[in-house]
Amino acid sequence: MPFQVERLKTNFKTLEEFKKFREYGLQELSMLEDLQANLIENDSESPFYGIYDGDALVARMSLYLTPAKYDPYFEPPQDFNELMKLEVLPQYRGRGLGRALVEYAKSLGLPIKTNARLGSDPFWKKLGFTPVKYDAARDRGENPYVWLPPGVSLR
Ligand SMILES: CC(C)(COP(=O)(O)OP(=O)(O)OC[C@H]1O[C@@H](n2cnc3c(N)ncnc32)[C@H](O)[C@@H]1OP(=O)(O)O)[C@@H](O)C(=O)NCCC(=O)NCCS
Repeated sequence: MPFQVERLKTNFKTLEEFKKFREYGLQELSMLEDLQANLIENDSESPFYGIYDGDALVARMSLYLTPAKYDPYFEPPQDFNELMKLEVLPQYRGRGLGRALVEYAKSLGLPIKTNARLGSDPFWKKLGFTPVKYDAARDRGENPYVWLPPGVSLR
C-alpha cells in the first residue's frame, strides 16, 4: 500500500497515540500542559508528521524549521529542517514507512539535519544522508547527518 504522510494535529487524541512510541518525553508532556492550559488550540498543527494504519498512528517524526541566521552547517547559510523523533512502531518496520517519512521531509526542498542515534547510521546513508565531521562545540555529543538539496554544500 502507498503510505500517506500526514501533518499531525496537536490534540488529546494525537497525544494518546504518542504514548505507544518509545521516545515519549518532555516534548509530549509540554504539549499536554499547553493543551490543558488552553495555550494552544485543540487541532492546531504540530511539528509532527505521521503515518496511520486505519485509526492507529504507526510512524512519526518531527520537523523543526531553523532560520538561516542560526545555520551552522550549510553553504550558503539557509533555513533548514531539523528532523527528530523518527520512529516506526516495531511491528511496522522494514516496510518502507521510515523511508516514506524521510522522503516527505526531503520533498519540502530544504536541507535536513538529523542526529543519527546508535545503530541507525546505515539507514541514514541508504536514504542519501551524509555524516558531518564532528565539531565538539557545535555538535555537543550528537552524531549529525545531513541531506543536501542540489546547489547546497556543507560549510
Ligand atoms: C530506523 C527506523 C526509523 C527505520 O524505519 P523502517 O520503516 O523500518 O525503514 P524502511 O523500511 O523505510 O527502510 C528503508 C531502507 O533502509 C534500510 N534500513 C532500515 N533500517 C536499517 C538499519 N537499521 N540498518 C541498515 N539498513 C536499514 C531498509 O533495508 C530499507 O532499504 P531498501 O529500501 O533498500 O529495502 C526504524 O527501524 C525505527 O523506528 N527504529 C527505532 C528508532 C530509531 O532508531 N530511529 C532513527 C534514529 S534517529
